[in-house]
Order: sequence, then structure tokens, then C-alpha cells
Amino acid sequence: MQRLIIKGGKQLSGELTVQGAKNSALPILAGCVLAGSQVKLRGIPELSDVYAACRILASLGVKTAFVDGTVTADPTGISSIHVPEKLMRQMRSSIVFLGAVLGKTGACRLSFPGGCELGPRPIDMHLRALRQMGVKITEKYGELICECPHGIKGAVINLPFPSVGATENIMLCAALADGETVICNAAREPEIEDLAEFLRCCGARIIGGSSGTVRIKGVKELHGCEYTVMPDRICAATFMAAAAATGGEIVLKGARAQDLGAVTDVFRQAGCLVSDSADRIYLNAKKPLRAVRDIKTLPYPGFPTDAQAPVMAMLCKARGTSVITETIFSSRFRHVDELARMGADIKTEGRTAVVTGVRELYGTGVVAPDLRGGAALVCAALAAQGESTVTNICLIDRGYEKIEKTLALLGADIRRENC
Ligand code: EPZ
Repeated sequence: MQRLIIKGGKQLSGELTVQGAKNSALPILAGCVLAGSQVKLRGIPELSDVYAACRILASLGVKTAFVDGTVTADPTGISSIHVPEKLMRQMRSSIVFLGAVLGKTGACRLSFPGGCELGPRPIDMHLRALRQMGVKITEKYGELICECPHGIKGAVINLPFPSVGATENIMLCAALADGETVICNAAREPEIEDLAEFLRCCGARIIGGSSGTVRIKGVKELHGCEYTVMPDRICAATFMAAAAATGGEIVLKGARAQDLGAVTDVFRQAGCLVSDSADRIYLNAKKPLRAVRDIKTLPYPGFPTDAQAPVMAMLCKARGTSVITETIFSSRFRHVDELARMGADIKTEGRTAVVTGVRELYGTGVVAPDLRGGAALVCAALAAQGESTVTNICLIDRGYEKIEKTLALLGADIRRENC
């Protein structure tokens, strides 16, 4: 077990290069299964979830090597269609291996995925769509046994909700299918277009990755490619929140303005000076923060649910009252109690949190409840008076590459220690 020790009160300042996007790297790693030859992926962040995805690939017979941010995968030796339960349970995004393995082999056996406790994480939309594509799915002892006796067929799929994972699973399953698949009401998150671009580099025929309607014309086979994943927009938002919470000034190299419109808008409403371009974002929070009256998490291009917790932490000391509504997940306020231990004034009612700014937060011992909630506690600890200890940081390591090193480079007084 490890923990972070943070002495608050230092203004963050300086430049950081944003890591590669976890939520793009994971489905693209699954997509390696579909390729007919070696794939080289650059800009892959060193995260526990990435290692988990490489273990799943290995269990399928796909050899991988992960060196200095580059994953080389050799999908020519696929020898299994079964993903062991202990690997499936390590993260939610393991479910996208279903579409990839089915797309490649026409069969797959795996258990329900794991992941952060953000409320129920059903996969009904995934399964309904795959069934429409001719996949026979039976559930036995918590495992899904999937077969396609007549091959995978293209279909027109209307998603009741623009689910990111379901959109990715369908794209992966459709790339080698017989005929065209059209996904209506598809997720429009930038990670969807990144996956589409990766698959195109492998020879897939996909249009509309960011439009809400994705068309995939199945091809006979895909080849390998070299690809660099997009920058992590949620990490960018998180470090913006850390800088704003400490009254700092930072430049985020690699962050793309196009991915963060709704996020930069909230920081500007909070009184930050933000200037952004295609490959960097500058944030200056020298002025005291103002509350933001109404933040609602929504599917892209709305305000991203993954930025909700860090932005809430930043608003704990803002002047006035902020109202945050979490519309995507039913239980994504587990960081509120921990922030309250630091002196934050937050009242929750269902999916709405009312944050009344306080003059000070106070360092204390807190426990990361999930990935983004843990990042929120780090942001709050950086802004608090005194020393904080954040434990359960393995959850933070799922999505942030060496978070203490990045923050220390920006002037934070932070260290990691075994406990
Ligand atoms: C992806 O999760 C991300 N994870 C999440 O990031 C992110 O919060 C989420 O998209 C929304 O943007 C990865 O990409 C690995 P969804 P996913 O399917 O695919 C319901 C992080 O912190 N739903 O868009 O699981 C579901 O319960 C993580 O990096 C169904 O009801 O999200 C949720 O309420 C957390 N049935 C909503 O839709 C389904 O079949 C959004 O889920 C699928 C989803």
C-alpha cells in the first residue's frame, strides 16, 4: 500500500506535458486484436489500467512489450477467446475486449467487468447491439458465452444513450463484419474519433467518429500500423483544477482546446484566465475564484463527468455557492465526505451537490474513493492549510501517470511513501 503526503499552500506554476489518454489507449489496445500484423502505439501512459489491458492481451495470445510510452503488440498468435475473470474484474473498460475478440474470432467468453464503484455499470446496451449483429450470447455462472454461428453481420443500431463503451464495442466488432454497421446516437467523445482513426490506420472503413452517427463498412482483414494516442483531456482538466485551487499559473502542453470547450468555459466562469490553442492551454488563477452557479455533467460535448470531482474540489474555496449536477452516474459523489473532512461545505441531494465556498480547507487524512475522487482529494490537499495524507492511491494510479512527480515539477510539496 502507498500514500501521498501533501503540504498545501503552494501555488502551482510551470509547464507540463499532458500524458496520453487512458480512455483512448484502452479501447485501442483492445483494437490490436483485430490487426493482422504488428501494431506500435505511442504516447501510451504508464498506468495500472494499461498494464491490465496488456495482461488481457497476453491471455489471448497477443504478445506485448511496453517501453518508454510505446506498446508494441503482435496479434499474429491469438490462441484463446477467453478472458479470465480476475483480469476482467480489474477495470470497467475490459468489456471492450468483447467486441474486439468477437470481431476477430467470432467467439468470446468473459465475465462481467469490474471498475470504479460509480453506481451500477450495466452492459445491456453493449449486449443488445451485439445480438443485433448476430452474436448469440448466453450468461452462465456470471460469464458471457458469445458465439456467431453465421458470422457477424452489419446492422443499424440505435443506442438509447450515447454510451462510450457500447459505441467502442460496436465499432470494434463491426470493423471485420459482413456488411455495414450504422451506430445512431453514438457517443461523440474525442476518444471515439481517436479509436476510429486508429482503426482506419489499420485499414478499417469508418466515417463519423465525432458526429453522433458512426458508419463502419466491414472489411476482410486489417493490417498493423503505428499510431499515437490523443492527449488525456481529463488529466488536463485535473491539473487545471489543481492550479486553480492553489491560485497558480500553468501551461499544459499537448492539451487540445477542441477537447475541452465545456471545461475551459467553467474555469472562465470561475474567474480564471484561460487561453487555449490546438496544442496547449494556458491557465492563470491569480484572482480569487468565483463560484459557478450551474455545472451539469453531460455526454460530450457537454461538461465531462470525469472532471466533476476535481472541479468540485477547486470550487470548495471559491467565493459563493456552486451547484453541480451529476447526470451520467448515479453514485459519483463519494469524494464529498472526504472533502468535508478537510472543511469543505458541500450538501448533496440525489445527483446534485451544493458547494458553499469556505475561507480555508485544512489538511487531514483522507481516503481515495475512486479514480477521479482521489484526484479531487489531491487538488483539495494542495489548496489546504497544513499537511494531508491521501491513501488508497492505487485508484489514482489507474489514471494518472506518476501524479506526485508531475505536481512536484509544478512546485507542489508532495511525496509518495509506502505505508
Ligand atoms: C467511459 O465509461 C469512461 N471509461 C468513463 O471514464 C467515463 O466516465 C464514461 O465513459 C462517460 O464519459 C473509459 O472510457 C474506460 P458509458 P463507460 O457507457 O463506457 C450507462 C474515468 O474516470 N450504461 O458512457 O462505462 C452507465 O451505467 C472513467 O476515466 C448503461 O446503462 O461509460 C452510465 O450511467 C469513469 N448501459 C452511463 O450509461 C450500458 O450498456 C454512461 O456510461 C452502458 C452504459
